Amino acid sequence: MSEPITHLSTELIHHAYQPPAGFGAVPPGVYKASTVIFPNVAALRSRDWRHKSGYTYGLHGTPTTFTLEERIAALEGGAFCSLAPSGLAAIATVNVALLRRGDEVLLPDNVYGPSKEMARTLLADWGVTHRLYDPMDAPALAAMLSERTKLVWLEAPGSVTMEFPDLRALVRAAKQRGVLTALDNTWGAGVAFRAFDLGDGLAVDLSMHALTKYPSGGADVLMGAVVTRDEALHHQLLLAHMRLGTGVAGNDAEFVLRSLPTLELRYRAHDRSARQVARWLQAQPMIRQVLHPALAGAPGHQHWSALCTDAAGLFSVMIDPALPSGRVDAFVDSLRHFKLGYSWGGPMSLVVPYDLKAMRGDAARHAGHLVRFSIGLEAADDLIADLDQALRALR
Ligand SMILES: Cc1ncc(COP(=O)(O)O)c(C=O)c1O
Repeated sequence: MSEPITHLSTELIHHAYQPPAGFGAVPPGVYKASTVIFPNVAALRSRDWRHKSGYTYGLHGTPTTFTLEERIAALEGGAFCSLAPSGLAAIATVNVALLRRGDEVLLPDNVYGPSKEMARTLLADWGVTHRLYDPMDAPALAAMLSERTKLVWLEAPGSVTMEFPDLRALVRAAKQRGVLTALDNTWGAGVAFRAFDLGDGLAVDLSMHALTKYPSGGADVLMGAVVTRDEALHHQLLLAHMRLGTGVAGNDAEFVLRSLPTLELRYRAHDRSARQVARWLQAQPMIRQVLHPALAGAPGHQHWSALCTDAAGLFSVMIDPALPSGRVDAFVDSLRHFKLGYSWGGPMSLVVPYDLKAMRGDAARHAGHLVRFSIGLEAADDLIADLDQALRALR
Protein backbone atom coordinates (compact mmCIF):
# COMPACT_ATOMS: atom_id res chain seq x y z
CA MET A 1 0.00 0.00 0.00
CA SER A 2 1.36 3.44 -0.86
CA GLU A 3 2.03 6.00 1.89
CA PRO A 4 -0.81 8.47 2.45
CA ILE A 5 0.06 11.99 1.27
CA THR A 6 0.26 14.27 4.27
CA HIS A 7 1.36 17.63 2.91
CA LEU A 8 -1.37 19.87 1.57
CA SER A 9 0.44 21.20 -1.49
CA THR A 10 1.55 17.70 -2.53
CA GLU A 11 -1.95 16.38 -2.03
CA LEU A 12 -3.44 19.16 -4.14
CA ILE A 13 -0.95 18.55 -6.96
CA HIS A 14 -1.23 14.75 -6.92
CA HIS A 15 -4.90 14.43 -5.94
CA ALA A 16 -6.12 11.01 -7.04
CA TYR A 17 -9.66 11.86 -8.08
CA GLN A 18 -10.43 11.11 -11.73
CA PRO A 19 -13.83 12.23 -13.00
CA PRO A 20 -15.82 9.50 -14.76
CA ALA A 21 -15.08 9.10 -18.44
CA GLY A 22 -17.75 9.56 -21.10
CA PHE A 23 -18.86 13.13 -20.38
CA GLY A 24 -21.08 14.13 -23.28
CA ALA A 25 -21.74 17.76 -24.21
CA VAL A 26 -22.17 19.86 -27.33
CA PRO A 27 -18.76 21.62 -27.20
CA PRO A 28 -15.58 19.56 -27.23
CA GLY A 29 -13.53 19.71 -24.03
CA VAL A 30 -10.80 22.31 -23.62
CA TYR A 31 -7.41 20.87 -22.71
CA LYS A 32 -4.40 22.98 -21.85
CA ALA A 33 -0.89 21.74 -21.25
CA SER A 34 2.77 22.33 -21.74
CA THR A 35 3.79 19.00 -20.13
CA VAL A 36 2.08 15.81 -21.20
CA ILE A 37 2.43 12.90 -18.70
CA PHE A 38 3.70 9.54 -19.99
CA PRO A 39 2.76 6.34 -18.13
CA ASN A 40 6.33 4.94 -18.30
CA VAL A 41 9.75 5.38 -19.92
CA ALA A 42 8.94 2.98 -22.77
CA ALA A 43 5.93 5.09 -23.74
CA LEU A 44 8.01 8.28 -23.58
CA ARG A 45 10.78 6.77 -25.73
CA SER A 46 8.50 5.29 -28.34
CA ARG A 47 6.30 8.31 -28.81
CA ASP A 48 6.48 9.90 -32.31
CA TRP A 49 5.35 13.54 -31.94
CA ARG A 50 4.36 13.79 -35.62
CA HIS A 51 1.41 11.43 -35.33
CA LYS A 52 -1.96 12.13 -33.81
CA SER A 53 -2.15 8.68 -32.23
CA GLY A 54 -1.13 10.22 -28.89
CA TYR A 55 0.37 13.25 -27.15
CA THR A 56 3.98 14.36 -26.65
CA TYR A 57 4.15 17.99 -25.54
CA GLY A 58 1.70 20.88 -25.58
CA LEU A 59 3.41 22.46 -28.58
CA HIS A 60 2.66 19.39 -30.70
CA GLY A 61 -1.02 19.28 -29.87
CA THR A 62 -3.72 18.57 -27.31
CA PRO A 63 -7.15 16.96 -27.78
CA THR A 64 -8.49 20.51 -28.30
CA THR A 65 -6.04 21.58 -31.01
CA PHE A 66 -6.25 18.16 -32.72
CA THR A 67 -10.04 18.53 -32.82
CA LEU A 68 -9.81 22.01 -34.31
CA GLU A 69 -7.25 20.83 -36.88
CA GLU A 70 -9.54 18.00 -38.01
CA ARG A 71 -12.50 20.40 -38.36
CA ILE A 72 -10.48 22.99 -40.33
CA ALA A 73 -9.19 20.21 -42.62
CA ALA A 74 -12.84 19.23 -43.21
CA LEU A 75 -13.85 22.88 -43.78
CA GLU A 76 -11.20 23.25 -46.48
CA GLY A 77 -11.78 19.82 -48.00
CA GLY A 78 -8.22 18.78 -47.16
CA ALA A 79 -6.80 15.86 -45.21
CA PHE A 80 -4.21 17.37 -42.84
CA CYS A 81 -4.10 20.66 -40.96
CA SER A 82 -1.57 22.42 -38.79
CA LEU A 83 -2.47 25.46 -36.71
CA ALA A 84 -0.39 28.59 -36.20
CA PRO A 85 -0.81 31.52 -33.80
CA SER A 86 -1.88 33.96 -36.57
CA GLY A 87 -2.58 33.98 -40.28
CA LEU A 88 0.80 35.57 -40.86
CA ALA A 89 2.49 32.84 -38.78
CA ALA A 90 0.77 30.27 -41.02
CA ILE A 91 2.26 32.04 -44.08
CA ALA A 92 5.68 31.94 -42.37
CA THR A 93 5.26 28.21 -41.64
CA VAL A 94 4.71 27.50 -45.35
CA ASN A 95 7.72 29.61 -46.37
CA VAL A 96 10.03 28.08 -43.75
CA ALA A 97 8.85 24.55 -44.60
CA LEU A 98 9.31 24.80 -48.37
CA LEU A 99 11.99 27.36 -49.22
CA ARG A 100 15.76 27.04 -49.02
CA ARG A 101 18.75 29.25 -49.93
CA GLY A 102 18.85 29.75 -53.71
CA ASP A 103 15.12 29.11 -54.21
CA GLU A 104 12.65 31.58 -55.66
CA VAL A 105 9.06 32.19 -54.58
CA LEU A 106 6.50 34.04 -56.72
CA LEU A 107 3.87 36.27 -55.13
CA PRO A 108 0.89 37.99 -56.76
CA ASP A 109 1.31 41.77 -56.79
CA ASN A 110 -1.94 42.07 -54.78
CA VAL A 111 -0.83 39.58 -52.10
CA TYR A 112 -1.56 40.35 -48.42
CA GLY A 113 0.95 43.15 -47.67
CA PRO A 114 2.85 41.54 -44.76
CA SER A 115 3.43 38.45 -46.93
CA LYS A 116 5.25 40.70 -49.44
CA GLU A 117 7.16 42.28 -46.57
CA MET A 118 8.25 38.82 -45.34
CA ALA A 119 9.61 38.02 -48.80
CA ARG A 120 11.43 41.36 -49.06
CA THR A 121 13.12 41.04 -45.66
CA LEU A 122 13.33 37.66 -43.90
CA LEU A 123 13.30 35.50 -47.02
CA ALA A 124 15.84 37.77 -48.75
CA ASP A 125 18.12 37.55 -45.68
CA TRP A 126 17.92 33.76 -45.89
CA GLY A 127 18.94 33.76 -49.56
CA VAL A 128 15.45 33.13 -50.96
CA THR A 129 14.55 35.51 -53.78
CA HIS A 130 11.04 36.52 -54.81
CA ARG A 131 9.33 38.14 -57.77
CA LEU A 132 5.88 39.63 -58.05
CA TYR A 133 3.55 38.45 -60.81
CA ASP A 134 0.38 39.95 -62.27
CA PRO A 135 -2.36 37.63 -60.96
CA MET A 136 -4.59 38.52 -63.90
CA ASP A 137 -2.06 37.28 -66.47
CA ALA A 138 -1.61 33.49 -66.22
CA PRO A 139 0.62 33.21 -69.35
CA ALA A 140 2.96 35.81 -67.80
CA LEU A 141 3.18 33.69 -64.63
CA ALA A 142 3.91 30.59 -66.74
CA ALA A 143 6.75 32.47 -68.45
CA MET A 144 8.27 33.44 -65.08
CA LEU A 145 8.56 29.89 -63.72
CA SER A 146 12.12 28.60 -63.67
CA GLU A 147 14.20 25.78 -62.21
CA ARG A 148 14.62 27.91 -59.10
CA THR A 149 10.89 28.54 -58.58
CA LYS A 150 9.80 26.32 -55.68
CA LEU A 151 6.55 27.95 -54.63
CA VAL A 152 3.79 30.12 -56.11
CA TRP A 153 1.54 31.95 -53.67
CA LEU A 154 -2.04 32.61 -54.79
CA GLU A 155 -4.78 34.81 -53.37
CA ALA A 156 -8.41 34.98 -54.57
CA PRO A 157 -9.35 37.78 -54.63
CA GLY A 158 -6.17 39.74 -53.95
CA SER A 159 -5.92 41.99 -50.92
CA VAL A 160 -7.34 45.52 -51.01
CA THR A 161 -7.79 45.84 -54.82
CA MET A 162 -9.87 42.62 -54.86
CA GLU A 163 -9.05 41.29 -58.35
CA PHE A 164 -10.26 37.68 -58.65
CA PRO A 165 -7.70 35.71 -60.70
CA ASP A 166 -8.25 32.74 -62.99
CA LEU A 167 -7.15 30.32 -60.26
CA ARG A 168 -7.40 27.28 -62.53
CA ALA A 169 -5.09 28.85 -65.12
CA LEU A 170 -2.55 29.91 -62.46
CA VAL A 171 -2.58 26.46 -60.79
CA ARG A 172 -2.34 24.73 -64.18
CA ALA A 173 0.70 26.83 -65.12
CA ALA A 174 2.47 25.94 -61.86
CA LYS A 175 1.54 22.23 -62.09
CA GLN A 176 2.88 21.98 -65.63
CA ARG A 177 6.30 22.97 -64.26
CA GLY A 178 5.95 20.84 -61.09
CA VAL A 179 5.93 23.94 -58.85
CA LEU A 180 3.99 23.87 -55.57
CA THR A 181 1.06 26.25 -55.07
CA ALA A 182 -0.11 27.74 -51.76
CA LEU A 183 -3.38 29.67 -51.68
CA ASP A 184 -4.19 32.29 -49.07
CA ASN A 185 -7.81 31.15 -48.76
CA THR A 186 -8.84 33.54 -46.00
CA TRP A 187 -11.42 35.29 -48.21
CA GLY A 188 -13.01 32.06 -49.48
CA ALA A 189 -12.92 30.65 -45.94
CA GLY A 190 -13.73 27.15 -47.22
CA VAL A 191 -17.24 28.35 -48.15
CA ALA A 192 -16.93 30.33 -51.40
CA PHE A 193 -15.04 27.63 -53.35
CA ARG A 194 -13.17 24.35 -52.89
CA ALA A 195 -9.44 25.00 -53.00
CA PHE A 196 -8.72 21.27 -53.40
CA ASP A 197 -11.31 20.82 -56.12
CA LEU A 198 -11.12 23.74 -58.53
CA GLY A 199 -12.52 21.73 -61.44
CA ASP A 200 -10.67 20.21 -64.43
CA GLY A 201 -8.87 17.98 -61.87
CA LEU A 202 -6.99 21.00 -60.49
CA ALA A 203 -6.22 21.59 -56.82
CA VAL A 204 -3.85 23.76 -54.87
CA ASP A 205 -1.17 21.95 -52.87
CA LEU A 206 -1.67 24.00 -49.72
CA SER A 207 -4.50 26.16 -48.47
CA MET A 208 -3.57 28.72 -45.83
CA HIS A 209 -6.35 30.36 -43.83
CA ALA A 210 -6.33 33.25 -41.33
CA LEU A 211 -8.80 31.79 -38.82
CA THR A 212 -8.65 35.27 -37.26
CA LYS A 213 -11.34 36.33 -39.75
CA TYR A 214 -14.53 34.30 -40.40
CA PRO A 215 -13.79 31.08 -38.45
CA SER A 216 -13.23 33.10 -35.28
CA GLY A 217 -15.90 35.62 -36.20
CA GLY A 218 -15.51 37.55 -32.96
CA ALA A 219 -12.58 39.90 -33.69
CA ASP A 220 -11.03 38.49 -30.51
CA VAL A 221 -8.66 35.72 -31.65
CA LEU A 222 -5.57 35.55 -33.84
CA MET A 223 -4.96 32.16 -35.46
CA GLY A 224 -3.97 30.59 -38.76
CA ALA A 225 -4.02 27.18 -40.40
CA VAL A 226 -2.36 25.38 -43.28
CA VAL A 227 -4.26 22.52 -44.88
CA THR A 228 -3.09 19.97 -47.44
CA ARG A 229 -4.09 16.62 -48.88
CA ASP A 230 -0.47 15.52 -49.14
CA GLU A 231 0.92 13.73 -46.09
CA ALA A 232 4.57 14.33 -47.02
CA LEU A 233 3.92 18.07 -47.37
CA HIS A 234 2.08 18.04 -44.05
CA HIS A 235 5.12 16.48 -42.37
CA GLN A 236 7.33 19.23 -43.83
CA LEU A 237 4.93 21.78 -42.32
CA LEU A 238 4.99 20.00 -38.95
CA LEU A 239 8.80 20.15 -38.92
CA ALA A 240 8.69 23.91 -39.58
CA HIS A 241 6.03 24.32 -36.89
CA MET A 242 8.14 22.34 -34.41
CA ARG A 243 11.33 24.25 -35.25
CA LEU A 244 9.61 27.64 -34.99
CA GLY A 245 7.71 26.70 -31.82
CA THR A 246 4.52 28.31 -33.06
CA GLY A 247 1.88 26.63 -30.90
CA VAL A 248 -1.66 27.90 -30.25
CA ALA A 249 -3.36 28.30 -26.88
CA GLY A 250 -6.18 25.97 -25.81
CA ASN A 251 -8.54 28.83 -24.99
CA ASP A 252 -7.97 30.41 -28.41
CA ALA A 253 -8.71 27.06 -30.07
CA GLU A 254 -11.86 26.90 -27.94
CA PHE A 255 -13.06 30.25 -29.32
CA VAL A 256 -12.67 29.07 -32.89
CA LEU A 257 -14.30 25.69 -32.15
CA ARG A 258 -17.24 27.57 -30.63
CA SER A 259 -17.65 29.78 -33.71
CA LEU A 260 -17.17 27.16 -36.44
CA PRO A 261 -20.75 25.78 -36.40
CA THR A 262 -22.08 29.23 -37.38
CA LEU A 263 -19.36 29.96 -39.95
CA GLU A 264 -21.43 29.19 -43.04
CA LEU A 265 -24.48 31.13 -41.78
CA ARG A 266 -22.38 34.14 -40.81
CA TYR A 267 -20.42 34.08 -44.08
CA ARG A 268 -23.67 34.18 -46.08
CA ALA A 269 -25.09 36.97 -43.89
CA HIS A 270 -21.91 39.06 -44.38
CA ASP A 271 -22.14 38.34 -48.11
CA ARG A 272 -25.80 39.38 -48.41
CA SER A 273 -25.26 42.70 -46.60
CA ALA A 274 -22.00 43.43 -48.40
CA ARG A 275 -23.63 43.02 -51.82
CA GLN A 276 -26.54 45.27 -50.78
CA VAL A 277 -24.16 47.97 -49.52
CA ALA A 278 -21.82 47.58 -52.51
CA ARG A 279 -24.70 47.96 -55.01
CA TRP A 280 -25.91 51.08 -53.21
CA LEU A 281 -22.40 52.54 -53.35
CA GLN A 282 -22.22 51.79 -57.09
CA ALA A 283 -25.03 54.31 -57.61
CA GLN A 284 -23.30 57.14 -55.72
CA PRO A 285 -21.79 59.82 -58.00
CA MET A 286 -18.45 60.22 -56.13
CA ILE A 287 -17.78 56.46 -56.26
CA ARG A 288 -15.94 55.70 -59.49
CA GLN A 289 -15.79 51.92 -59.05
CA VAL A 290 -16.81 49.25 -56.56
CA LEU A 291 -14.20 46.47 -56.36
CA HIS A 292 -16.36 43.51 -55.30
CA PRO A 293 -15.73 40.32 -57.30
CA ALA A 294 -19.43 39.34 -57.29
CA LEU A 295 -20.45 42.57 -59.05
CA ALA A 296 -20.48 42.63 -62.84
CA GLY A 297 -17.66 44.81 -64.15
CA ALA A 298 -15.39 44.26 -61.13
CA PRO A 299 -11.89 42.99 -61.98
CA GLY A 300 -11.98 39.22 -62.37
CA HIS A 301 -15.78 38.98 -62.00
CA GLN A 302 -15.85 36.31 -64.73
CA HIS A 303 -13.33 34.17 -62.82
CA TRP A 304 -15.33 34.57 -59.59
CA SER A 305 -18.50 33.50 -61.46
CA ALA A 306 -16.75 30.43 -62.88
CA LEU A 307 -15.83 29.20 -59.39
CA CYS A 308 -18.21 30.72 -56.81
CA THR A 309 -21.71 31.76 -55.96
CA ASP A 310 -20.78 33.05 -52.46
CA ALA A 311 -18.50 35.94 -51.55
CA ALA A 312 -17.04 37.33 -48.34
CA GLY A 313 -18.26 40.62 -46.85
CA LEU A 314 -15.21 42.52 -48.01
CA PHE A 315 -14.87 45.06 -50.84
CA SER A 316 -13.21 48.33 -51.76
CA VAL A 317 -14.34 51.46 -53.58
CA MET A 318 -12.41 53.90 -55.75
CA ILE A 319 -13.39 57.48 -55.02
CA ASP A 320 -13.16 60.27 -57.62
CA PRO A 321 -9.43 61.11 -58.05
CA ALA A 322 -10.28 64.81 -58.48
CA LEU A 323 -11.20 65.04 -54.79
CA PRO A 324 -8.46 66.10 -52.37
CA SER A 325 -7.43 63.26 -50.05
CA GLY A 326 -8.42 65.35 -47.00
CA ARG A 327 -12.07 65.09 -48.09
CA VAL A 328 -11.77 61.31 -48.32
CA ASP A 329 -10.29 61.19 -44.81
CA ALA A 330 -13.18 63.39 -43.61
CA PHE A 331 -15.65 60.90 -45.18
CA VAL A 332 -14.01 58.00 -43.33
CA ASP A 333 -13.87 59.97 -40.07
CA SER A 334 -17.59 60.82 -40.38
CA LEU A 335 -18.67 57.17 -40.37
CA ARG A 336 -20.33 56.06 -37.15
CA HIS A 337 -21.12 52.35 -37.53
CA PHE A 338 -17.99 51.61 -39.56
CA LYS A 339 -15.00 51.71 -37.19
CA LEU A 340 -11.52 52.50 -38.44
CA GLY A 341 -9.34 49.43 -38.07
CA TYR A 342 -7.57 46.50 -39.75
CA SER A 343 -8.85 42.96 -40.21
CA TRP A 344 -12.28 41.65 -41.21
CA GLY A 345 -14.74 38.83 -40.60
CA GLY A 346 -15.98 40.09 -37.24
CA PRO A 347 -19.43 41.37 -36.23
CA MET A 348 -18.57 45.07 -36.49
CA SER A 349 -18.19 46.82 -39.84
CA LEU A 350 -14.73 48.25 -40.46
CA VAL A 351 -13.18 50.74 -42.87
CA VAL A 352 -9.60 51.56 -43.93
CA PRO A 353 -8.41 54.10 -46.53
CA TYR A 354 -5.31 52.78 -48.35
CA ASP A 355 -2.55 54.61 -50.19
CA LEU A 356 -2.01 52.35 -53.20
CA LYS A 357 1.09 54.24 -54.34
CA ALA A 358 2.90 53.02 -51.23
CA MET A 359 1.74 49.42 -51.81
CA ARG A 360 1.80 48.56 -55.51
CA GLY A 361 4.07 48.74 -58.49
CA ASP A 362 0.96 49.07 -60.68
CA ALA A 363 -0.74 51.85 -58.62
CA ALA A 364 -1.16 53.94 -61.78
CA ARG A 365 -3.73 51.38 -62.99
CA HIS A 366 -6.03 52.37 -60.13
CA ALA A 367 -7.13 55.99 -60.52
CA GLY A 368 -8.73 57.45 -57.39
CA HIS A 369 -8.70 57.07 -53.64
CA LEU A 370 -9.19 53.51 -52.39
CA VAL A 371 -11.29 52.83 -49.29
CA ARG A 372 -11.87 49.26 -48.10
CA PHE A 373 -14.95 48.13 -46.20
CA SER A 374 -15.48 44.99 -44.15
CA ILE A 375 -19.21 44.51 -43.74
CA GLY A 376 -20.17 43.19 -40.32
CA LEU A 377 -23.43 41.79 -39.06
CA GLU A 378 -25.28 45.07 -38.47
CA ALA A 379 -28.47 45.65 -40.50
CA ALA A 380 -27.46 46.61 -44.04
CA ASP A 381 -29.98 49.49 -44.07
CA ASP A 382 -28.26 51.05 -41.04
CA LEU A 383 -24.89 50.75 -42.76
CA ILE A 384 -26.26 52.40 -45.90
CA ALA A 385 -27.78 55.24 -43.86
CA ASP A 386 -24.39 55.72 -42.17
CA LEU A 387 -22.57 55.85 -45.54
CA ASP A 388 -25.18 58.27 -46.86
CA GLN A 389 -24.62 60.76 -44.04
CA ALA A 390 -20.80 60.39 -44.26
CA LEU A 391 -20.76 60.87 -48.05
CA ARG A 392 -21.85 64.47 -47.42
CA ALA A 393 -18.16 65.11 -46.73
CA LEU A 394 -17.54 64.34 -50.42
CA ARG A 395 -20.48 66.19 -51.95
C1 LIG B 1 -5.67 37.88 -46.87
C2 LIG B 1 -5.07 37.81 -45.51
N1 LIG B 1 -4.20 36.83 -45.24
C3 LIG B 1 -3.60 36.72 -44.04
C4 LIG B 1 -3.87 37.61 -43.04
C5 LIG B 1 -3.12 37.50 -41.75
O1 LIG B 1 -3.92 37.09 -40.70
P1 LIG B 1 -3.52 37.47 -39.19
O2 LIG B 1 -4.03 38.85 -38.95
O3 LIG B 1 -4.19 36.42 -38.38
O4 LIG B 1 -2.03 37.38 -39.08
C6 LIG B 1 -4.76 38.66 -43.27
C7 LIG B 1 -5.05 39.65 -42.21
O5 LIG B 1 -5.60 40.72 -42.45
C8 LIG B 1 -5.36 38.77 -44.55
O6 LIG B 1 -6.20 39.79 -44.84
